[in-house]
Amino acid sequence: MFSPATINRFQNLETPFYYYDLNLLKQTLEACRTASAKYNFHVHYAMKANFNPKVVSTIQAYGFGADSVSGNEVRAAIEGGFSKDKVVFAGVGKSDKEINYALEADIFCFNVESVQELAIINDLAKTKGKTARVAIRINPNVDANTHHFITTGLEENKFGVDIWQLPNVADALHASTNLEFMGIHFHIGSQITDMEVFKNLCVKVNELDKWFEERGFTIKVLNVGGGLGVDYYNPDTNNIPDFESYFKVFNDHLIVKPNQEVHFELGRALVAHSASLISRVLYVKNGLKKNFLILDAGMTELIRPMLYQAYHQIDNISSQLPVMSNESVNNNGELKTQNSKLMTKYDVVGPICESTDCFRKDVLLPESVRGNLIAIRTAGAYGEVMVSGYNLRDRVQSVYSEE
Ligand code: LLP
Repeated sequence: MFSPATINRFQNLETPFYYYDLNLLKQTLEACRTASAKYNFHVHYAMKANFNPKVVSTIQAYGFGADSVSGNEVRAAIEGGFSKDKVVFAGVGKSDKEINYALEADIFCFNVESVQELAIINDLAKTKGKTARVAIRINPNVDANTHHFITTGLEENKFGVDIWQLPNVADALHASTNLEFMGIHFHIGSQITDMEVFKNLCVKVNELDKWFEERGFTIKVLNVGGGLGVDYYNPDTNNIPDFESYFKVFNDHLIVKPNQEVHFELGRALVAHSASLISRVLYVKNGLKKNFLILDAGMTELIRPMLYQAYHQIDNISSQLPVMSNESVNNNGELKTQNSKLMTKYDVVGPICESTDCFRKDVLLPESVRGNLIAIRTAGAYGEVMVSGYNLRDRVQSVYSEE
């Protein structure tokens, strides 16, 4: 829900743009910090969800670490204010250049995704006369019960080391000269709303912790990744994730030994609700079978609906403003908003030359006209970071709430 003052502010701005509600972001960060502190859990922010500099600088102020997936994300995290001894680096395809950069930066830990990568990091560290801290990302074969495009912890996924390969990992660690083994890492998928999934993950983590300890390794860090989902259907009423229940699952089901730390890598849950994509209606096209609302934003600005059939609430926010005319009061003397207009079904589409450039079909909205402002909600995670320049589009702008 946007206040009339905010909607009026939008009316003077060029669209499309991402609008960040920094107050909501801060409330979310505070809720996460409080809930995790209760159990002494360490939270890393997954940079990939949103590396907008203002968002990054807001998040680092809460004392979280950072999870990165490329050399540039490692750099953005450090330059954005995260302490380098709280930066971790995952990714199935780390290049030598990226590994060397992270070694120079002396980050907290590499989350290593294959036996080959262990050997390469060891060699590169040796050349530099350094010791690299490493955790092994294990593919635990736990079903995340989410969209298959954002599932990462099953045997058919490319991520992590399969359990049957762990003896090779143990050999490689024993043979290495320039690695310090820190622990084990998992990330089984994203937008997980079923807490049972995390419980299943805990069972696997406990088993694998035991496996390593039995072979003489000391595990200092149990990193269980991210994945906590958000409510895309109720952005006005349920916009701070239930961090308490989430962390409680791990507290209740993980066996944590003294001197072990539990680490998390949350992306979506921290930022998703804090932004909406604001666009304008360019044209309303009434066809025989369909009415199309053609926006000035498309898949180049927010690709989640097209890529993962993701749901985002779509609001005509111009219609939420009070009507300013002598007809603004109805027969009962009540103030009418433009919402009192007829509801119509639209396919809400973008301007890109692709049939898949559709935010959603058959969206029921107040009858809309050219120039109306449309908000696509809960777009703070994997929104702005996934923009593309296809069709040589202008780079989408960012606008922030007054803090
Ligand atoms: N850690 C690792 C190793 C990851 O690969 C990811 C996300 C995270 C943490 C953070 O996960 P989160 O807490 O945000 O679920 N573009 C997709 C999501 C891709 C997630 C990739 N990995 C989407 O828009 O739904």
